[in-house]
Amino acid sequence: MTQAVLGIIGGSGVYDLPGIEDLSEERIASPWGDPSDLLRTGRVGTTRVVFLPRHGRGHVYSPSDINYRANIDVLKRAGVTDLISVSACGSFKAELYPGSFVLVDQFVDRTFKRDTSFFGKGCVAHVPMAHPVGPRLQGRIADAAKAESIPFSQGGTYVCIEGPQFSTYAESLTYKGLGYDVVGMTAMPEAKLAREAEITYATIAMVTDFDCWHPEHDDVDVASVVKIAQQNAATVAKLIARIARDFPAEHEPCPVGSDHALDGAIMTAPSM
Ligand code: ADE
Repeated sequence: MTQAVLGIIGGSGVYDLPGIEDLSEERIASPWGDPSDLLRTGRVGTTRVVFLPRHGRGHVYSPSDINYRANIDVLKRAGVTDLISVSACGSFKAELYPGSFVLVDQFVDRTFKRDTSFFGKGCVAHVPMAHPVGPRLQGRIADAAKAESIPFSQGGTYVCIEGPQFSTYAESLTYKGLGYDVVGMTAMPEAKLAREAEITYATIAMVTDFDCWHPEHDDVDVASVVKIAQQNAATVAKLIARIARDFPAEHEPCPVGSDHALDGAIMTAPSM
């Protein structure tokens, strides 16, 4: 049996996870460089949890400067089997209003200056990404949200932009016209790297704004993102605590194969 370890990556406004028992801070070395912060490890009930604030303490890493490979690598080394990322985002749908949560199941990657793979010259691998979110893990988030009476929307497409600037009006209209649901700056390449690391991944997208397309709402700015993220921090903590409390001791096999994504993915011949 593989013991389940629940990893949480906190985004804007989520720099801590209250409620972790036996909390300790761990520095795990990675050949990929420095992760965003120390890992905070402990347990919620009997579930082992590992928390990492994506932007580091004090929000010092811009989305383009986050070492996504080191972050995923240290979480893997800490034994994380299932990873929930919390990401602030803008919304392209009137019904996905600021303060609401979206359990996205697809990503579009528009980033262009990040290291997106652990593989490359010398060891070439192509992991499947058709279904980037673990449906069973997402189901656990949905169950916990229902149990805590936290409204959420199930399913949706998150377009990840490079940033750090927010989108132009034309870009915002384009993403909306393409049918995307939300926009953020951080879920990619995180989801790709989690897949390569055979960690089951799911995102809780926390809507903080309507980007800049909505005629009846102000254009997104940092103040609006921070305000909504802070207002929601306690709800996020409650949701994560519930997911952790109800998490199974044994890692549940992922129906879309994220926990064995490397089977058959490596093309480079083994060296003789
Ligand atoms: N994070 C929060 N709101 C955002 C937006 N509108 N665009 C990109 N990233 C965001």
